[in-house]
Amino acid sequence: MSTSSSTAAERDFKREFLKIAFMTFGILLICFSIFFVKHQENNNYIIETLKLNGSAEEGDALFKINCVGCHGITARGLVGPDLHSITQRLNDKEIIKQVTGGLTPPMPSFEIDPVNMSNLLKYLHSLE
Ligand code: HEC
Repeated sequence: MSTSSSTAAERDFKREFLKIAFMTFGILLICFSIFFVKHQENNNYIIETLKLNGSAEEGDALFKINCVGCHGITARGLVGPDLHSITQRLNDKEIIKQVTGGLTPPMPSFEIDPVNMSNLLKYLHSLE
């Protein structure tokens, strides 16, 4: 009697355990899918941006609107660092991540289309 009730409890436990294991697996799978899709979107954005040949003048105008508050009117630095010769320290991909990523507060993340991102890159290259 006691043996059979303990095996029933064991079976219950196994069933519960399997349920939780499957649920955990499902949640992980969803998380990985979201991460993968996001990563793919970011990659496509970077590839598209790097294919373009931006205009430094357009980038300059964009910089004056969005970035001078922190990086200074001539990009010599204010709250944010001096951006002259930044393109020697960071590659284009890293700069794109810096501008769109929002990974280093207080610098915000910018939602910027590939054409304008390419213009900004061209401008930053012109500061060398
Ligand atoms: C609210 C202020 C702020 C604004 C607006 C801002 N930045 Fe920044 N930025 C910073 C700060 C602060 C850092 C330094 C972050 C760190 O390294 O911790 C930084 C870092 C950077 C870097 C990396 C510099 C390095 O030496 O590694 C780049 C490139 C950059 N910003 C470009 C831009 C561009 C382009 C814009 C406009 C689209 C912009 N930032 C707008 C504050 C700002």
